[in-house]
Amino acid sequence: MISSNLRKAREYEEKYEAVIKEEDRPAFHLSPRVGWMNDPNGFSFFDGKYHMFYQYYPYESKWGPMHWGHAVSEDMLHWKYLPAAIAPDTEADMVGCFSGSAVDMGDGRHMLLYTGVTREGFEDYRDKLLGYESGDIQIQCVAIGDGVNYTKCDTNPVIDSSMLPDGCSKLDFRDPKVWKNSDGTYNCVVGNRPADGSGQILLFTSADGIKWNFKSILIKNECRYGTMWECPDFFELDGEWVLLTSPTEMVASGLEYCSGSGTLCLIGDYDETAGKFTDRSNQSIEYGIDFYAPQTILTADGRRIMIGWMQSWGTLDIKDSSEPWFGQMTIPRELSVKNGRLYQWPAKEVESMRTGKTEYRGVSFEDILKLDGVSGRQVDMEVVVRPEDIDSYGGFEIRFAQDDNFYTSVIYDASDSVMKIDRSHSGCRGDITNQRICSIGSECLSELKLRIMLDRFSAEVFINGGEKAMTITMYTEQSADDISFVASGRVNIDVVKYDLK
Ligand code: FRU
Repeated sequence: MISSNLRKAREYEEKYEAVIKEEDRPAFHLSPRVGWMNDPNGFSFFDGKYHMFYQYYPYESKWGPMHWGHAVSEDMLHWKYLPAAIAPDTEADMVGCFSGSAVDMGDGRHMLLYTGVTREGFEDYRDKLLGYESGDIQIQCVAIGDGVNYTKCDTNPVIDSSMLPDGCSKLDFRDPKVWKNSDGTYNCVVGNRPADGSGQILLFTSADGIKWNFKSILIKNECRYGTMWECPDFFELDGEWVLLTSPTEMVASGLEYCSGSGTLCLIGDYDETAGKFTDRSNQSIEYGIDFYAPQTILTADGRRIMIGWMQSWGTLDIKDSSEPWFGQMTIPRELSVKNGRLYQWPAKEVESMRTGKTEYRGVSFEDILKLDGVSGRQVDMEVVVRPEDIDSYGGFEIRFAQDDNFYTSVIYDASDSVMKIDRSHSGCRGDITNQRICSIGSECLSELKLRIMLDRFSAEVFINGGEKAMTITMYTEQSADDISFVASGRVNIDVVKYDLK
């Protein structure tokens, strides 16, 4: 039996997805079936397919009472929509079904662990789905299903604030990320706020995924990086323990962190018995503008793959809420830890989409260069740049999504060793952040390596073998598909470009 709220959402999305033409969506990035999308949720492998759920409000392209949209894929690039998985329809989640995660229970059941937002002492909730207000409390809930239909547990909430130590907020307590241990038990990490008003991550354990126990405060923010820590993910990678989270209300710090909602990767030591994580190093996960709330999975062949929300809370007003869709996910990126830093690189599945190779080696030029066959808005391109004379070398720029009036670019400034991503001239009328800068290694001076993935409305740039990534959405007409190279000083470049189908 599905609830009337879920039935309504399913009927709506089935009817209105048709208003979005295929060419008006990204070609290989997941976008909402219709309406609004934010965080990736429940990224998992179940029943032979990758599943991706997402924060979803089908009825308008703006944030509203949260549902979970649902899609499946064999390669994490070509997605097939399934009916919306859950809607706010029980006492535990009457205000919304916030972010969470999913796990294969190993017995044919797929478990969703998500944050229910509810209102204390609020009786007549079915008539009052008013949206998120302060005073709403957050609790963790389970829904179990077969990969299409999910039933919420009668025992929801499975985790609530009565299980927490004194001082833990019940208003900010969300985004459980669950994983299954080799002995069949489960753990999850959840974002929370202690009395100091900043963030912390809580750790819970469970024998069956349904009855949960508080284990420990995994780590406290102590007002170091933003305030609330949203959407945590915690895993071992290349012999290191890694915590990913998305802090709110960051204060800019050097070129590492920007003000506002950002991303944070802590690498450190995990005392499993005590349930304590101690960070040794910190960095942004991403250095572009449109990246937030990523989630990872471990694939059967042992890769840690991450997908993030390819949008930012600062770009909400860029489209009118009457537009048919808003929000998309990044491509899947394989993570690794090298020299104590998080690296990311397009998952190998991307390579099977490559067609039409265009290759140039050792092209020497200064000022501006266009190359035959190097254009397009669905592109995977690798560029290597070597200055011919380091002393007169000022830097290098790649312009894309370009026509006579508009372009977006990545610009390397050799004197400051910084990379800028810039959509100031992309034709967007919105009052949004258009540029971001990050520092890159001095070795880029003699050899700069860039990989750029374009897909109609976005660019994902991987610098220096994935040491840093910069992601941006762009709203330029699709006919603007030129790519050009600009060098200050004579350079010698290699370009390998594929179209992505
Ligand atoms: C992060 C977030 C989560 C929350 C969800 C609500 O983008 O604020 O913390 O669960 O979005 O849509």
